[in-house]
Amino acid sequence: MKIGIVVYSETGHTLEVADRLQEKMIAAGHYAEIVRIRADKRRMKLEEAPSVEGYEALVLASPVHAFTLARPMKLYLKTFPSLKDRRVGIFVTQQLKRPFFGGNRALRFLQKNLEKSKAQVVLGGIVHWSAKEREKQQETVVERLVP
Ligand SMILES: Cc1cc2nc3c(=O)[nH]c(=O)nc-3n(C[C@H](O)[C@H](O)[C@H](O)COP(=O)(O)O)c2cc1C
Repeated sequence: MKIGIVVYSETGHTLEVADRLQEKMIAAGHYAEIVRIRADKRRMKLEEAPSVEGYEALVLASPVHAFTLARPMKLYLKTFPSLKDRRVGIFVTQQLKRPFFGGNRALRFLQKNLEKSKAQVVLGGIVHWSAKEREKQQETVVERLVP
């Protein structure tokens, strides 16, 4: 399967998880590539919004900002065409250890918007960067999202 992993990442955490996911997807026999969303410094507008054409499945990955999904990913979601039952995995990373400090809200935002675009959403979950279980959380996200 040809899979696009669309990542917004500022300090590399989300990208690190995406790299592991890509590795596992390739090991499972898929073609998987990472494409990056880029925004201006104040996160007010997108500088790069990768096309999702040509991918049979997608993953969207973003950090949590200000207790919700990072703004560049919110802006990116607005650019989406109909996803016509395409499989779209989602995960987020956040600094704080509890999901109610933004992670749950960010995932809900992604899920709701993707379902509006008719995607078949697969929940990867949250990686809490300051948690001692971080490694395990990364493994869980990767396990859930490799088709
Ligand atoms: C502007 C800003 C706001 C943030 N707000 C939150 C927050 O509300 N809750 C949280 O747990 N972490 C918050 N963080 C931390 C990031 O979510 C966390 O470090 C994330 O893993 C960064 O991912 P990245 O390295 O891929 O950019 C914030 C970081 C930034 C820069």
